[in-house]
Amino acid sequence: MSVLTLSTSSAATLRADAVVVGVAKGPEGPVVVPGGETVDQAFGGKLAAVLETLGASGGEGEVTKLPAPDGVKADLVLAVGLGDAPAKDGSYEPEALRRAAGAAARALSGRKKAGFALPAEDGASVAAVCEGALLGAYAFTAYRGKDDKAKGKGKKGGKKDGADAGTPLAEVIVLGAKPRDKAHKAAAERAEVVAAEVNRARDLVNTPANDLHPKSFAAAVQSAAKEHGLEVEVLDEKALAKGGYGGILGVGRGSANPPRLVRVAYRPSKAKKTLALVGKGITYDSGGISLKPAGHNETMKCDMSGAAAVFAAVVAAARLGLAVNVTGWLALAENMPSGTATRPGDVLTMYGGKTVEVLNTDAEGRLVLADALTRACEEKPDAVVDVATLTGAMMLALGGRTFGVMANDDAFRTTVHETAEEAGEQSWPMPLPTHLRKGLDSSIADISNMGERMGGGLVAGLFLKEFVAEGTPWAHLDIAGPAFNESGPFGYTPKGGTGSAVRTLVRLVERTASGDAL
Ligand code: BES
Ligand code: MN
Ligand code: ZN
Repeated sequence: MSVLTLSTSSAATLRADAVVVGVAKGPEGPVVVPGGETVDQAFGGKLAAVLETLGASGGEGEVTKLPAPDGVKADLVLAVGLGDAPAKDGSYEPEALRRAAGAAARALSGRKKAGFALPAEDGASVAAVCEGALLGAYAFTAYRGKDDKAKGKGKKGGKKDGADAGTPLAEVIVLGAKPRDKAHKAAAERAEVVAAEVNRARDLVNTPANDLHPKSFAAAVQSAAKEHGLEVEVLDEKALAKGGYGGILGVGRGSANPPRLVRVAYRPSKAKKTLALVGKGITYDSGGISLKPAGHNETMKCDMSGAAAVFAAVVAAARLGLAVNVTGWLALAENMPSGTATRPGDVLTMYGGKTVEVLNTDAEGRLVLADALTRACEEKPDAVVDVATLTGAMMLALGGRTFGVMANDDAFRTTVHETAEEAGEQSWPMPLPTHLRKGLDSSIADISNMGERMGGGLVAGLFLKEFVAEGTPWAHLDIAGPAFNESGPFGYTPKGGTGSAVRTLVRLVERTASGDAL
């Protein structure tokens, strides 16, 4: 990840490859936003006019690069659009700053050092600029060829101006922020942890399924647990069989890569509350015997995004030293068709004893989550939240940038939705209409894994609800849309794995620590 520093240098005097200034959409064209004054002066006060001549409007995410004039020590001036200017005397929303910083950082990939002269005055705005820049300066480079890797190290083969597209900006300097100001320093430190953990989740999601399977995922958790002092327990296929985890085993049995259930826990001494986080960790979803058609399986390495988010959030809670017990449950399996795979029509006996008739082996997420939810509830947490790329239906309902929030408790659903908003993640409350439950009735078992097609995301939520202990507040985040960005990058969001839900979970742990979530 990029190195982050705060600096009180002026935008004009900072020696760097680039200096980023903000430009907003004013009623009469682009306007330079606070932070960019000294750069504007070097342009003779005509930066906005120059930008307008170049066709810039200040629209959100718009990037304009200019050679630095005399009086600006950086090589390049990058003007990034923030969208509409806030009402008079108002300040920019953190999310607008986060997105602008991210878009600028992305546009500076391949450069070494950039100053961000955006309006960062209070803790919240410093946090947003730091987080946006660090999240925007992300690239998944593990699978690049040797030549590209050499470029990445900046040794040879790079372009003359030092810009190697695809190599993240190395050094982020947030200007206007004071390294000695307690609030600014705390904001930067939190942003570093949160961005690193979002990027950890992105890396896991982007890792192809031939390298990330249940065993290697579990090993990654074990090594992070060691580094950060977390409890970790991995149930392998033998332990799962002994424990009666019929859902996880039933989904994993078609694969040469056997399933795992990982419990990873952060246990600070001063904690008053316990949160259980449960993640769907299908390292590849082929659909199983109910095989997905071509065109629907190319991105299915992303089907462990929920488990990646849970893992990253537990590590983040530990690194931030939050006073809450956080237990992550990662239900890891690879859903493959084979001679040993679960057949449509088979009945599984789940952890806890309920029986499930598997009418569609592609509805596998709810099966692994059912075991993990039942197990998580046994420890009597104050609340449980599951995160899953669960249904295509949720994507159809909410699109590619918004996750659905369902719950067995209206107040908790509202809390989670508002927490996501605070964290800068788009979500929307969805209902669990009781009349859809009868579609899940099975003629031979306690329940079937397939219900009505209409409202498929809600049907999946109703299935999960059956496996949550009575009286435990539970929320279900269906991140099928936002987990994996199949279109172009935007703001601080890259193509591919996005790290969806990590920031929401971290914020939820923080709110739980301060007593205003549960
Ligand atoms: N992993 C998929 C859901 C999904 C689809 C995630 C697209 C991300 C992008 C899930 O396991 C699945 O296949 N769900 C089925 C359920 C159906 C068979 C009841 C679906 O949504 O079609
Ligand atoms: Mn599936
Ligand atoms: Zn799936």
